Amino acid sequence: MKGRYFTEQERQILEEIIRHRRTELGENFLSQEIPETVLNRLIWAALSAPSVGFSQPWEFVIIRDASIKEKIKACFEIENEKAKKIFNDKPLYNQFKLEGIQTTPINIAIFYKPSSSPVLGQTSMKKAGPYSVCLAVQNLWLMARAENIGVCWLSILDEQKVKRILNAPDENELIAYLCIGYVKEFTERPQLEIANWETRKSQESLIYYDSYHQDSNS
Ligand SMILES: Cc1cc2nc3c(=O)[nH]c(=O)nc-3n(C[C@H](O)[C@H](O)[C@H](O)COP(=O)(O)O)c2cc1C
Repeated sequence: MKGRYFTEQERQILEEIIRHRRTELGENFLSQEIPETVLNRLIWAALSAPSVGFSQPWEFVIIRDASIKEKIKACFEIENEKAKKIFNDKPLYNQFKLEGIQTTPINIAIFYKPSSSPVLGQTSMKKAGPYSVCLAVQNLWLMARAENIGVCWLSILDEQKVKRILNAPDENELIAYLCIGYVKEFTERPQLEIANWETRKSQESLIYYDSYHQDSNS
C-alpha cells in the first residue's frame, strides 16, 4: 500500500487514548493554565475532523473571561434546577457536579455555522452539518486526552441564552460547550458508571447484522 502505514504499537496507542478518554466532573479540575501551544494542538485536532462536503461548518469561541463564565454558570444553574425536578426520584443527581465552567481555565463553545449555499453531501440529510461539528468535538477531546487534559461537555444550558451571552450570529447553532483543564485524576470508567447511574450496554445488544431482526411472532 501507499501512504502512511501505522504499526501495531501506534494502533495500540490510539486504542489506549480512546479507552482512557473520560468526561471530568467539575470538582476534578485544576486551575493550572493550558499553554497556548497545547491549546493550538487541540484546535488543530478539531479542525482536522471530517466534514460533509469539506464544508468545515464550525466556529469556536475560546472563553477565559471570568465575567462571561459567570453568566454561563448562572445559565447552567437555572437549567440544572429544571433537571433536578425531572430527576426528583433520583437523589444521586444532586451529588454530581456536572460542569467545570469556573474550575477550568478554558471553556470552548463550538458552533455549527450553516452554509448559505448547497453543500455536497448535505442536500438530503441536513443534520450532516451538525454531525460534522460533533466529530470536531470528538477529535479535540481525544487530543486533549493525549495531552493529559480533561474535558467536560456541558449540555445543561439554554442554547439561546448562551448565544446571547457570546454574541453568536442568529443562524449559528450551539453544538457543544466544553470545559477544559488539567485534572487531579483520570478514572478508568465513566463517573456515571462508577456512581451506578448507568451501566455500559453490551455489544450484543447494540449490533444487528444485515437488518434489524424481525419479531419472530409477526
Ligand atoms: C452530547 C453530550 C452531552 C453531555 N453533557 C454533559 C453534561 O451536561 N454534563 C456532564 O457532566 N457530562 C455531560 N456529558 C458527558 C457524559 O455524561 C459522559 O460522556 C458519559 O457519562 C460517559 O462517560 P465518559 O465520557 O467518561 O466515557 C455529555 C456527553 C455528551 C456526548
